[in-house]
Amino acid sequence: MFGAGYVGLVTGSSFADLGHEVVVRDVIPERIERLRAGEIPIYEPGLEKVVERNRDRLTFTLDVDEAVDGAEFLYVAVGTPPTESGDADLSYVWSVIDHLPETMVDRPIVVMKSTVPVGTGENVRRRLDVRGLTNVGYVSNPEFLAEGNAVHDFMHPDRIVVGAFEERDADRVVDLHRGIETEVVRTDVASAELVKLAANAFLSTRISFINEIANVCEFVGADVVDVARGVGLDHRLGPHFLKAGLGFGGSCFPKDVTALKQLAGNSGYQFMLLQAVWEVNELQKRRVVQKLTKHLGPLQNKKIALLGLAFKPNTDDMREAPSRVIAYRLLSEGAEVRAWDPVAHPADLPGIELCDSVLDAVRDADAAVIVTEWPELATLASREVHDAMARPVIVDGRNLLDPVAAREAGFTYEGIGRPRHASPPDPSRDRKPERRS
Ligand code: UGA
Repeated sequence: MFGAGYVGLVTGSSFADLGHEVVVRDVIPERIERLRAGEIPIYEPGLEKVVERNRDRLTFTLDVDEAVDGAEFLYVAVGTPPTESGDADLSYVWSVIDHLPETMVDRPIVVMKSTVPVGTGENVRRRLDVRGLTNVGYVSNPEFLAEGNAVHDFMHPDRIVVGAFEERDADRVVDLHRGIETEVVRTDVASAELVKLAANAFLSTRISFINEIANVCEFVGADVVDVARGVGLDHRLGPHFLKAGLGFGGSCFPKDVTALKQLAGNSGYQFMLLQAVWEVNELQKRRVVQKLTKHLGPLQNKKIALLGLAFKPNTDDMREAPSRVIAYRLLSEGAEVRAWDPVAHPADLPGIELCDSVLDAVRDADAAVIVTEWPELATLASREVHDAMARPVIVDGRNLLDPVAAREAGFTYEGIGRPRHASPPDPSRDRKPERRS
């Protein structure tokens, strides 16, 4: 396994859980030292236990030769961050390929887990061939793990996608997953690469779509929570990824929307829809400032508490987190910004005061903004918080709270796409109609 980031660690330790011997190689000495000492360098629920119970089958190393020696599969799980042009940066991928030994026996297979542009497999194949490594196979096996739930996702995937140049390589990669019950989608390499980008872009599209519906709800007095429920019960549409909020973040959706848009553009096709998905998401983060201004007037010298910093709950990941944009928009409006998060304690947010508790963050604040729907915030509309704030204004960027209860507790409450009367759906209100006999 090349890469000891979240994909590499979850995939590597889960393969060990399936009974395979796994060597995880990374270039960051500190990360490898911590892993050898039994420490998990990322926050991912359940991962520590998987690593712990597979100690005997897992090796962590900085040494390429140790990783490659006798390996049947060479999994690539390195980062592919966007470059300035929006294309994926493949330098870590090439570094892995170029450091493979000159001679390898028994047809090991390079398996691509990293999210890469379509065409990467062809290019890797060519580079392997040029290096004389014609006996090394190549398979694209994209990952669909969601942070915070990745350990479960690996063992219970919706599908396993295997794109290969040669059937015999696909067979071996499929066989490697024995023990996992799911659909297997076998394709050519380019299609497998595109499945990953298309899936992430489609999920992002659903989020931007429901966020636009939420914005319309605010104009017409409808409740986006009810609208999403009514839409999502259509089996052709499904209920997932229809939660309105202040925008998507993370290391995947923003990157993959951009990467697919650039990929299409580079091939001569303008992917207009993704342009809109991207812009809606950027505007959505900034709407928080408008909502605050509506209740507080100019934000100069106002004290604003940002509750939750990570791009979603159950992770400490701050990559492309909406909190970053919101924090700096507020600072540029002249506001005083404090923030609280149970696990993300970023050192790179100068000007933002990090607080140890929710209560410290909201003390004397003019407003509190729920940025990440951490379960700890479900009881935010309490007497204690009400009394601590200078003005009891809550902007609920994730529609976590019951608007009616929050207002009854004396707060000025503003959700996303939720009019004044809205409260969470009462399942007893819309039971299935009795069947006629
Ligand atoms: C995403 C995909 O869900 C995974 O399938 C994929 O493997 C992964 O990217 C990847 O490419 O590695 P992840 O970024 O961990 O996983 O997080 P998600 O749970 O998908 O959430 C992404 C963002 O969308 C978060 O900021 C979340 O708050 C937001 N979101 C999600 C919404 O605003 N509304 C929703 O209904 C769902």
